[in-house]
Amino acid sequence: MTELESEAMEAEFDTVAGWTEEAVRALGRGHAIPAGCRGSGSEGALRWLADRLELHPGSRVLDSGAGVGGPAAWLAAERGVRPICAEPMAAAVRASRRLFGLRSVVALGQQLPFADASFDVAECLGVLCTTSDKAGALAELRRVLVEGGRLGLLVFVADGPLPSAPPEGNEFPSEAETRRLLGDAGFELLETAEVDPSDSPEEWMQAADAVDAEVERRHGDDPAFRQAQENSGRVGRLLSDGALRPWLAVAVAR
Ligand SMILES: C[S@@+](CC[C@H](N)C(=O)[O-])C[C@H]1O[C@@H](n2cnc3c(N)ncnc32)[C@H](O)[C@@H]1O
Repeated sequence: MTELESEAMEAEFDTVAGWTEEAVRALGRGHAIPAGCRGSGSEGALRWLADRLELHPGSRVLDSGAGVGGPAAWLAAERGVRPICAEPMAAAVRASRRLFGLRSVVALGQQLPFADASFDVAECLGVLCTTSDKAGALAELRRVLVEGGRLGLLVFVADGPLPSAPPEGNEFPSEAETRRLLGDAGFELLETAEVDPSDSPEEWMQAADAVDAEVERRHGDDPAFRQAQENSGRVGRLLSDGALRPWLAVAVAR
């Protein structure tokens, strides 16, 4: 397995990914996409990005840091594309293949196993804040995109000091730093927006909550579950304090 920068992140993104797959199987496929969107914010955020990515049926689309594949499966279902997923956690990669039939590979965003200019569009959602090598991840996204290719990003940004502990292993950039990193990597920023976390249909929220409850019922006593809960609770507190903002951006490769 490719290693992340902390054990807590591996608990959250690997172990819980496997448990999510198990819970979706128990509850039914209709739960898969909402439960498989880990950190993507809301369906409204996915739609906002998709509307700006100039997607066509034949577009070659990459999702880097794809998790269990909910956002890529949503794009496939809603926009008729066949995304390829790259994700460092093996259990998440397996879940994305088995739940959604996605083409997924185990890989860090800083070492993508793809040729230069092999994608027209890329997404990278909730990933930059989980790696210290943000410049490396953005450089790889630029390398694998064609000139003029579009990048959709979701980044949790922090514009000042955090009032409470961040989740272990996370490093939240400021909006200004993210803009600078994008420019340095060869991207021109086209449009940005704030995510409205409640912008999903009621059934979407209910399905995601049901999967969370099923995971807790099965694994609530496991230390990895408690660690993952602690991590996501910390993000929740920082978001409700306004210290963190989910920031959406669409950029073009120059
Ligand atoms: C908050 S989750 C978001 C998953 C997915 N993009 C989504 O929106 O549902 C962050 C993901 O980034 C992955 N990740 C962490 N470090 C990474 C890195 N250096 N390169 C690529 N992905 C990474 C994690 O394993 C995890 O699946």
